[in-house]
Amino acid sequence: MKNFINIADVEKKDLRKIIDHAKSQKEKRSNLNKSAIDPEAYLTDKILIMIFEKSSTRTRISFELAMKQLGGQLVVLNPKESHYGSGDESVHDTAKVLSQYGDIVMMRTTKHEHFLEFSKHLDIPIINGLTNLSHPCQIMSDIMTFEELKGSIANKKIAWLGDGNNVVYSLIEASAQFNFELSIACPKQLIPNKKILNWAKSKKAKILITNDPNKAASLADCVMTDKWISMGDTVNKKKKKKLLKPYQVNNKIMKLAKTDAIFMHCLPACRGEEVTDEVMDGKQSAVWLEALNRVHAQKSIIEWCLK
Ligand code: CP
Ligand code: NVA
Repeated sequence: MKNFINIADVEKKDLRKIIDHAKSQKEKRSNLNKSAIDPEAYLTDKILIMIFEKSSTRTRISFELAMKQLGGQLVVLNPKESHYGSGDESVHDTAKVLSQYGDIVMMRTTKHEHFLEFSKHLDIPIINGLTNLSHPCQIMSDIMTFEELKGSIANKKIAWLGDGNNVVYSLIEASAQFNFELSIACPKQLIPNKKILNWAKSKKAKILITNDPNKAASLADCVMTDKWISMGDTVNKKKKKKLLKPYQVNNKIMKLAKTDAIFMHCLPACRGEEVTDEVMDGKQSAVWLEALNRVHAQKSIIEWCLK
């Protein structure tokens, strides 16, 4: 049984297979309508169960479309309306029951530990749809998007400006697994998770951490950011935003990157904070393609888990 919990847990060759399969499957359905079933769909007898402890627009809809295009079925469980969420059924028992009904689970949790605890008791595969620690599906879609626009990501320079959060955690793992250079610019108080940085170091990943946004963006092939306040962040918001102000992605920053560099943001964005309108809506922005590719990358992840 294969789970998709973190990018670091999956072998390099499997990650490459997932991306390449996503690209070729997307290509094959280029003339089909959004809800049309793939010609080679073989998940007609499979059910995906989705559980969201936190809000979602893209993850929810893209997994729904993914399952539709694969010919499968899906059920969304709202923790607020279920025994699991209200705490009157143990995680163990809920996981065992869901294993009877579904073939695979996609879960978004407030705490990564909830996710791991749930996955321990489940008898079917599980996909991480974002936790406070990581967001692997997002980064797999972003790799696909980068490669669709710029070719192989190997040895390219990706710049991350802003918060050292769950999205950059998965990006750090990806830099080791897909062999790209990653320059992270953030204030020292917001440096990403030390454990994952040490893991990346042990894998000889090319990662630079700096407090200089210009240095990180310089000659980058792609500039990335995410909102400064993540869901469930209990920090002093005003203080955090002040610290992050110098890390805004604006035209001045984009000019330091390569002339053909792209801009990526997982969304939702707080325009005017981590990114300006001119960059979000500018010709280097790849944000809408990123959202679309969630569908294709996740179809490939679901298939990998179920094979
Ligand atoms: N990028 C992303 O995961 O968006 P949602 O929170 O809308 O799912
Ligand atoms: N870092 C953000 C990502 C949202 C998709 C959050 O966790 O809220």
